[in-house]
Amino acid sequence: MNCVIDSLLRRFPLISDQVDVSELRVILRELEFVLERNIQGDIVELGCYKGTTSLFLARLLAARNEDRKLYLYDSFAGLPPKTAQDSSTVGDQFVAGELHATKADLVRTFMKNYLPQPTIKKAWFSNLNRTDMPADICFAFFDGDFYESIRDSFRVCQDLFSAGATIVIDDYDSEALPGAARATDEWISQHSTIIKSFRTEHSLGILKLV
Ligand SMILES: C[S@@+](CC[C@H](N)C(=O)[O-])C[C@H]1O[C@@H](n2cnc3c(N)ncnc32)[C@H](O)[C@@H]1O
Repeated sequence: MNCVIDSLLRRFPLISDQVDVSELRVILRELEFVLERNIQGDIVELGCYKGTTSLFLARLLAARNEDRKLYLYDSFAGLPPKTAQDSSTVGDQFVAGELHATKADLVRTFMKNYLPQPTIKKAWFSNLNRTDMPADICFAFFDGDFYESIRDSFRVCQDLFSAGATIVIDDYDSEALPGAARATDEWISQHSTIIKSFRTEHSLGILKLV
C-alpha cells in the first residue's frame, strides 16, 4: 500500500471518465518509481484533454516537494482523424473532433486546484519538435489514442528520454484503439537495445528504458 498515492486518490475526484482510479494508481506508482530513483528530467503528458491525469501528476510532484516540471500537450481540438492503423470493429465513438477541451479551461483547472501552472502547449503532435519539449524526460504518459498520435509522441520524445526513464502508454491493451499498441510495438522493435522491460497492467503499456 502506498500512503501518498492512496491519499491523493481518496481526497480528489476524477474530473473526466478518460482514466479510472486503478489506472491512475499505476501511472502514479510508475512516476513515483522514477522519482525515488532520482532519474533525471521532467514529466510529459501527450494527450492531456481536461487534465484529469495531469492534476494527479502535479499533486504527486507537489506532495513530494519535487521541483521537476510538468509539460502538457494537446491539440485542444480533439482527436485527429483515424487512419487505417486504427481500424477496429469497436470504438466508433473515437472520431475526429471528439474529446475537445480548451487550454484556457485547463489553466483555470490548475488555478482552482492551487497547483503550479504546468507548461501547456497547444499543437498537433506531428508538429511538435525538440524546442517544445523539456531537455530531459524521466517520465512520459502517452494518451493520444491513435496510431499516428502515439507514433508522433515517441518520435518527439525519443532522444530526450533519460537513462532509466519510464513511458506509460494508455490504451495499449484496448480492442477499440488498436493503433496505440501498433505504434508502441513498432517503436519497441526499432529500439530493442534501450528497452529494459515492457509489461501491461489494466489497459496500460509500461515501458522502462535501460
Ligand atoms: C483520451 S484523451 C486524454 C485523456 C487524459 N490523458 C486524461 O487522462 O484525462 C486524448 C487526448 O489526446 C489529444 N490528441 C490525440 N491525438 C492527438 C494529436 N495527434 N495531436 C494532439 N493532440 C492529440 C486529444 O485532443 C484528446 O484531448
